[in-house]
Amino acid sequence: MKTPAKRSSHTVARILELFSSLRELTSLDAILERILSEARRLSRAEAGTVFLREGGGLAFSFVQNDRLAGSRHVTEMVYQNASLPIDGSSIAGYVAQTGRTVVIDDVRAIPPDAPFRFNTAFDERSGFLTRSTLTLPVINSRGAVVAVMQLINALGSGGRRGRVGPFPPAAADYVALLAQHAAAAIEAGLMTREMVLRMVRMAELRDPSETGPHVQRVGAYSAEIYQALATARGIDAGTLKRTKDRIAVAAMLHDVGKVGVPDGILKKPGPLSSEERRIMRRHTWHGAALFRDPASELDAMAADIAAHHHQRFDGTGYPGWSADPPQGPTPDREDMAPLLGKAIPLAARIVALADVYDALTSRRVYKPAWSDEEARAYIAGASGTHFDPEVVTAFFSLGGMVTAVRERYPDP
Ligand SMILES: [Fe+2]
Ligand SMILES: [Fe+2]
Repeated sequence: MKTPAKRSSHTVARILELFSSLRELTSLDAILERILSEARRLSRAEAGTVFLREGGGLAFSFVQNDRLAGSRHVTEMVYQNASLPIDGSSIAGYVAQTGRTVVIDDVRAIPPDAPFRFNTAFDERSGFLTRSTLTLPVINSRGAVVAVMQLINALGSGGRRGRVGPFPPAAADYVALLAQHAAAAIEAGLMTREMVLRMVRMAELRDPSETGPHVQRVGAYSAEIYQALATARGIDAGTLKRTKDRIAVAAMLHDVGKVGVPDGILKKPGPLSSEERRIMRRHTWHGAALFRDPASELDAMAADIAAHHHQRFDGTGYPGWSADPPQGPTPDREDMAPLLGKAIPLAARIVALADVYDALTSRRVYKPAWSDEEARAYIAGASGTHFDPEVVTAFFSLGGMVTAVRERYPDP
């Protein structure tokens, strides 16, 4: 049995450990996931949500729920544009508005004169029963609320393990300490996302088909495909999380090399001549050159993806020895060699499918959007030739997640 003093020093050590591990994470999702897991562990909460302040409201940005674990509903929530107003119509909205922590023992016994109400929408949609909540603001160094963390249903309090009870005051203290430091990590994640989107916007200015929503969908599909594939392979949870985090960001950069292709070719409305196609294909070289001296594992993966996302599983596609390098800085020729099958980096094999699926199901100047069924039929038919069969299987296992991603990042 741990003494209270031992328990608290152990807890503080855990929190400090968390901060150093947050520095390794790149994508905002991975940062939120880590913070929420730790807050739930500290407070023994059955479920939890992180809302990010976005525009004029609070966006549902991360959801975890033990009782509904694995339920499509909960995972898809993350991709839905669910948003709450910043006011007393919900507990989280009130916390964002006032910057105060709110602890509630039973949400169904909130007095009618309280300045906030319990928003029943999630419980109604999921069949979950919220009882106790601990809702805290995540405040940055400038004093602004950047996020709200809501922990739901304290388990095992009062010695009755597994039963839902109120959150003890100590839990609120620990989680508040964690929330204090979480703000910096969340802002770093937001900044990475902004930087990536800025690079993407730069490419988008040049190539109108390479839009923000397109790259966000490709990033999300790629991360989900990787997770399904890694789970099927039995890859350990730590590697899975780190790689998923990396691919979510690196996949978004698959076509930044288009900044090196002349406007006359990128914006040409009609079909390209064979010479123009040859120059267009060089975007793989330009992209790989951008990440030529990998400073991090993220850069190394972004280079692999930029170089090989048009490589086909059967060894065709490009680049290859036949594709002549452009002028200016280029990656090593060996890095651009034609590859076959599993020799193509896994991240590039995944992005190849995600990019094609998204291009097919989107409207382009030269073609209408294909239906989901048509695109899936094409992918199934190209398994083993264009695409890695293992990646195809992982993609088909995603089910409704694919639609949820499309709804989260719609074309304007
Ligand atoms: Fe491309
Ligand atoms: Fe693309």
